[in-house]
Amino acid sequence: MQIHPTVAGLRAALDAERARGARIAFVPTMGNLHEGHASLMRQGHDHADVVVASVFVNRLQFGPNEDFDRYPRTMEADCARMQAAGVAHVFAPAEAELYPQPQTMKVVPDPVLADILEGAFRPGFFTGVATVVTKLFNIVQPQVALFGKKDYQQLMVIRQLVSQLALPIAIVGGETERADDGLALSSRNGYLSPAERAQAVQLHQALSAARDALRAGDRDFARIEADAMAFLQAGGWSPQYIAVRRQADLQSPAAHESSLVIVAAALLGTTRLIDNLEV
Ligand code: PAF
Repeated sequence: MQIHPTVAGLRAALDAERARGARIAFVPTMGNLHEGHASLMRQGHDHADVVVASVFVNRLQFGPNEDFDRYPRTMEADCARMQAAGVAHVFAPAEAELYPQPQTMKVVPDPVLADILEGAFRPGFFTGVATVVTKLFNIVQPQVALFGKKDYQQLMVIRQLVSQLALPIAIVGGETERADDGLALSSRNGYLSPAERAQAVQLHQALSAARDALRAGDRDFARIEADAMAFLQAGGWSPQYIAVRRQADLQSPAAHESSLVIVAAALLGTTRLIDNLEV
């Protein structure tokens, strides 16, 4: 596995891979990798000859009061995981390499998708994501890129990005990896105290109850959402949203519609967790 701190070094290595006819799959990350990332990297081999990953904590997608500074940087452990997952090239630039000048040119996603749910609570988040992902796509030029479904709205923004900007990249969504108790794996789970970690499964429980109600034919979306919010509040959480939405565009569904997703974000102590379940 080669680690490339510079754009020029990575480009030279990937040009050589392309010259021998290799297809490239790409998994962008912010590091602090877990089994969810490793699973995406392993899946990359089903789509391409060479798997490339990036590790870059992208300041642009963090709000002023968010966790950019304390976001865990765990490069040694990340490298072991990437090696085990068969990653051939890691792009791990310093901030000055990826943003040598202030990044004043931004990619602003469609607000109809990007200003709701996560975007409503994290203004500018999807612009930061779309900007860095576009830049990474231009550097890596993969045929395929893989993103986890845990970040459901992010995956949709990326799909819209490649479609609207005509980028020749197939986007693959990987299923959410979960701990034995159902908690979705996330880099931010590491912020939880042991007591909070034991309690964190309640987010999945709230979503599961909502999914069971929908599966049973309940179409009172507002009440299903309110029940899930109340369940979390009773457990001491501060839920930000729990919403039944259409899988196709994350807008509110009509009662007769199927292919739904329940998306949620909630704070447990100071840790913000997100999760979702498709129905
Ligand atoms: O999902 C993430 O880890 C980040 O949002 C991404 C896609 C690597 C962009 O910084």
